[in-house]
Amino acid sequence: MAETEDPRFIDYVGEAKYNLYFETEALAAISKALLYTELSAQALCRVVTASEASALGMPTIASALKDTDFDPKSFPYVAYDLREFLRVMIELDTLLKDDPDYKDGKFRYRPIRFLEVGCGPGRNLYVLRNGGLLLWSSIEGIDIVEPYINAARDFYNLGDSVWQDDALTIDYSPYDVVFSHRPFSDHAAEAEYEKRLVGLMKRGAYLVAPLCETHAEDTRLVALGETGVIWKRL
Ligand SMILES: C[S@@+](CC[C@H](N)C(=O)[O-])C[C@H]1O[C@@H](n2cnc3c(N)ncnc32)[C@H](O)[C@@H]1O
Repeated sequence: MAETEDPRFIDYVGEAKYNLYFETEALAAISKALLYTELSAQALCRVVTASEASALGMPTIASALKDTDFDPKSFPYVAYDLREFLRVMIELDTLLKDDPDYKDGKFRYRPIRFLEVGCGPGRNLYVLRNGGLLLWSSIEGIDIVEPYINAARDFYNLGDSVWQDDALTIDYSPYDVVFSHRPFSDHAAEAEYEKRLVGLMKRGAYLVAPLCETHAEDTRLVALGETGVIWKRL
């Protein structure tokens, strides 16, 4: 009697091939879905970036920007990579959901008051307002350069939620989340600004700060998440 005719014979190879066939099918379906998601996200990011170029290209804004004296210690408007911004905001949303300090009887977490320091023409604020990524009670932004604020109002319709202000004088204590993407090019000015910002933030508030100078060593902050740019104020 051949081995395969023996009723005790278990065809492990055949079983493995069978399983592998379906696993391969499943993996192919997952990778196709991921590709479609990635291509859709890339296309949407390009559209948002193009809309921002239109905002900055508005004749009144473009000519006002040409006449602006930029502070040599400050960065001009350099937009945060939009894919990265989305990734960080999704991580922030998860952290808030899991944070007992933000527990809420009604929502996944207590809706937050959000401030962007150096919001430029308001692209990130517009994305947050309309993207449904975070639960928020208020989304606000400031920038030192007035034409950017005008673009945020005229193009993105952000009204009084954005205003011209100085990162070095504003009060950060009312906010649950502060997003600050390196307003200052000068290292000492950035460090001084960061220390003041953290000093004023309320305990339990979150700070999202790519390209920062001092936060990693600041004992008043604890790093959270995997993106490496989110801290919580102790
Ligand atoms: C690197 S860009 C970041 C833009 C935007 N936050 C983003 O991440 O896409 C820095 C922004 O900070 C603004 N800025 C520079 N100095 C500032 C100050 N003292 N107060 C407020 N905003 C300032 C600039 O005008 C510029 O729009």
